[in-house]
Amino acid sequence: MTGRTAIILAGAALALPAAAQAAELNLICAADVVICERLTEEFGKTHPDISVNMVRMSSGEAYAKIRAESRNPQTDIWWGGTGDPHLQAAADELTTPYESPMQAELHDWALSQARVSGNRTIGVYSGVLGWGYNTEHFAAKGLKEPLCWADLLDPALKGEIQIADPNSSGTAYTALATLVQLMGEDEAFAYLKQLHANVAQYTKSGSAPVKAAARGEAGLGIVFMHDAVTQQVEGFPIKPVAPCEGTGYEIGSMSLIEGSANPDEAKIFYDWVLGAEVQSLMPEAGSYQIASNKAAKPSEHAIDPSAVKLIDYDFAEYGSAERRKHLLARWDAEIGGAASE
Ligand code: F6P
Repeated sequence: MTGRTAIILAGAALALPAAAQAAELNLICAADVVICERLTEEFGKTHPDISVNMVRMSSGEAYAKIRAESRNPQTDIWWGGTGDPHLQAAADELTTPYESPMQAELHDWALSQARVSGNRTIGVYSGVLGWGYNTEHFAAKGLKEPLCWADLLDPALKGEIQIADPNSSGTAYTALATLVQLMGEDEAFAYLKQLHANVAQYTKSGSAPVKAAARGEAGLGIVFMHDAVTQQVEGFPIKPVAPCEGTGYEIGSMSLIEGSANPDEAKIFYDWVLGAEVQSLMPEAGSYQIASNKAAKPSEHAIDPSAVKLIDYDFAEYGSAERRKHLLARWDAEIGGAASE
C-alpha cells in the first residue's frame, strides 16, 4: 500500500463515524398537513443538524401505529391530534414521562394533561367542537340554519352531513364522547342512529367533512370549529356553528415515545414547539386553535371559548383505555356496522 492510499483510507475512516451519527427525529404529526409541514420546515431552520422524518396521520391512527410498534418503536415524538388517544397511550405506558422546562409558560388546561398522565403527555393547543355549513348550499336548497345538535336530525338534511369515523379520527371521537356527556350513553347512541340517516359519509380524517362542505360536496361537516374557520378564511361560504345545547372541546396533545431511538432530539423538538414564537406561527399555516403557550400571539380568527356553551369535558374518563375502547366498540357495532350495510 502506498503512503497516499493510506492517507485517503484514513480520511475515509475518519469521515464514516460522523456520517453514521447524523441526528434524526421521527415525528408523527396528527394535525393538519399544512401546519405539520410548516413545523418541520421551521424546526429544520433552527436545528439544521437534526433531520426530521415527519409522517402525518389522524389521532386514532397515530395511537394504533405507536401501539403496533411498541416492541420496536419507529417514532420518537407524537405532536398534535386530540388528547384522548394520548391519554390512552400514557395509561398503556407507550409514552414516556418528561417534565419540560417550558411548563412554566403554559396555560393550566395544557398542564392538566400532564397532571392526569404523570407527565406522559401535555397540551399543545385546544379547540371547540361544532360544525361548519355551506351557507350558499343551504340557501339554494331552502334548508334551515342548523344551530343545535337537534337540528341535525331534520329529515331535510338527508345525505347532507359528513363526520369522520371515531376509530381513526380524534375529532369524531370527541363528538362521540361529547354527545355521551351531554345526553347519557344510550341517548347519545339513539341520537347517532338517527343522525346516521343524514350522514353521507364517515371520513378518515376529522377535518375532511368541512373541506367537502366548502367545495359543495356536502352541506355540513361536523368538525372542530377552527377547521371551519380555516375554510371561511380561505374564502369558502362556510359558517362555523357552536351547537346551542352545549359542546365539547379538545386539548390537542404531545407525547414522547417510550424506548424511542432518538430521545434527546425528541426533547429538543418538544421544548422548541412549546415556545411562544413557534406557536404564534400556527395561524400563518391556517391553524386557528388556541395556543398552549400563554405568550403566543392570539389570532383574530380564533374562536373565543368563553362565547360558547362548553361542557365540563372529562378528559381523564374519556381518555381512559376502558371508556375509549368501549365507546368505539359500541360505535362499530351500532353505527359503523350500519354504514357498511
Ligand atoms: O389540525 C386540525 C385538527 O382539527 C386538530 O385541531 C385536531 O387535533 C386534529 O385535527 C384531529 O384530527 P383527526 O380528527 O383527523 O384525528
